[in-house]
Amino acid sequence: MDKKELRDLFPVTRNLIYFNHAAVGPLSTRAYAAMEQHARDQRDQGALHWQDWYAEYNRFRAAAARLIGAQPKEIAILKNTSEGLSFVAEGYRWKSGENAITTALEFPSNYTPWKWLARRGVECRVAPQPTVEAIEPLIDDRTRIVSVSSVAFHNGFTADLDAIGALCKKRNVLFCVDAIQSVGALPIDVRRANVAFLAADSHKWMCGPEGAATFFVAAEHRHRLDVLEHGWSNINRHGTFLECDADLLPDSRRFEAGSLNTNGVHGARAAIELLLEIGIDNIAAEVIRVATRLADRLEEIGWRVASPRPIASGIIGAIPPGVERSILKWHRMLEENGVICAPREGMLRFSPHFYNEDAEVDRVIELLRS
Ligand SMILES: Cc1ncc(COP(=O)(O)O)c(C=O)c1O
Repeated sequence: MDKKELRDLFPVTRNLIYFNHAAVGPLSTRAYAAMEQHARDQRDQGALHWQDWYAEYNRFRAAAARLIGAQPKEIAILKNTSEGLSFVAEGYRWKSGENAITTALEFPSNYTPWKWLARRGVECRVAPQPTVEAIEPLIDDRTRIVSVSSVAFHNGFTADLDAIGALCKKRNVLFCVDAIQSVGALPIDVRRANVAFLAADSHKWMCGPEGAATFFVAAEHRHRLDVLEHGWSNINRHGTFLECDADLLPDSRRFEAGSLNTNGVHGARAAIELLLEIGIDNIAAEVIRVATRLADRLEEIGWRVASPRPIASGIIGAIPPGVERSILKWHRMLEENGVICAPREGMLRFSPHFYNEDAEVDRVIELLRS
């Protein structure tokens, strides 16, 4: 597909310069059509086609698994990234005195669940950044889990997951990844990176809806997590509802305790299949190319780019020259001119995706210059 065809799949391109995928991505025509079709089905037929809905869950798990290099049975459909990370932090069978390591670059979703373990006698250690050099000194024989964001939400710091995963393997520690800021934009291979647990909702770089998250639990580590939510759909009911057995399903569906966000799953499945069709390596190359152009041009006009070089993700955090205008004013000015980005941690955060184009970068620079 050429750029024009790709852009036609994202109607937002007709309305806005959308550089805000690190917040919420726009729906593609494919994701929208899948959700519309399901909404129409439920509107007109109720749950008559429930078996098709269940088949859609399987298609979602298969697509999500392909995107991250997992097996479909290792994927659970959760409501969001925070829920997945909490399932790991709270579900792990801690002994008092053990510790978990996270980093200082985390969104609250990958910080608060580890902090809250203090009440169970578990220490949360904070590495200054997600690198082997920063994490290794914090690991001791009571460290059980290292949890990092694949890409930091504010400045795009991109963790070397293969290297951190190798460290975890060497030190016999489980590796957990908050991957919402990279899945859909950058390739990831959970096996190669020795990832035990990963969570990522669909609504950022996957350009799917909110509330349809991928939760990966490596088959060999499934037994390490207690299931925290119980219901009717994650057990072997053997065809009955009354007084049924409470045996958990053997695969990752054990983490799905009740009815799913069926409409969201339709959209997320279609969104992921589109990414797979385009090819995640092609997407990553274009995300980095566009983001690098933006970073270069911002520096040309005197902005300070806080994202590490070489640019390795779609997130560019930038600080304006001088102090005469606050970040919020810059943000408002851009929004009034149809450019969508986000103020974050004293920076303007721009997060373009693969379908954005050079002319959009140039238009943003022109607006900032004027
Ligand atoms: C790195 C990171 N993790 C987690 C979240 C929150 O994800 P969710 O709303 O799916 O729990 C965000 C949202 O901005 C994020 O940037």
